[in-house]
Amino acid sequence: MTGDFSRGLPGDPPPAETIARMLRVDHAGEYGATRIYQGQLDVLGHGRAGVIRQMAETENRHLARFETLLGARRVRPTLLHPLWTVAGYALGAATALLGERAAMACTVAVEEVIDEHYQRQAEQLGEEDPALREALLSFRDDEIAHRDLAIREGAEESSGYDLISAVVKTGSRLAIWLSTRL
Ligand SMILES: [Fe+2]
Ligand SMILES: [Fe+2]
Repeated sequence: MTGDFSRGLPGDPPPAETIARMLRVDHAGEYGATRIYQGQLDVLGHGRAGVIRQMAETENRHLARFETLLGARRVRPTLLHPLWTVAGYALGAATALLGERAAMACTVAVEEVIDEHYQRQAEQLGEEDPALREALLSFRDDEIAHRDLAIREGAEESSGYDLISAVVKTGSRLAIWLSTRL
């Protein structure tokens, strides 16, 4: 889709640059997710590791899709990519060090933010780019399934659940905000 979007009205198709930013932040988010799970897996090499590995595989699939889309549409990754390598891993490792349930609490918080994020993007796309919209909604379903799985694994019984949730959600929203702009 090309055209002049500078005079956008509510309900108008989003500009190409907006879609490029969507892909950039989504790629960053899925990459961050793989780093979180890697951090958790390195700490928890047993116990809940099977569940985490299962979720990590989904994130790898999501990431691969965005890598393909970035390449095909010539969208550069976020400049903060190196930061997410470290920050994602640190978040995963830190929550895992607090315990298996804290690791699950981290997943619940991240997935709740991502659920809203993909939902908002899908709404923003509207009728524009139906293939991308479908992918976002399908990924959103996967993230909701991760949240539910983490709850079944005892996330909400984690000590300090509210604090972990608040910190992780704030961090995730900040990461989204930054990756959309940089
Ligand atoms: Fe994902
Ligand atoms: Fe996920």
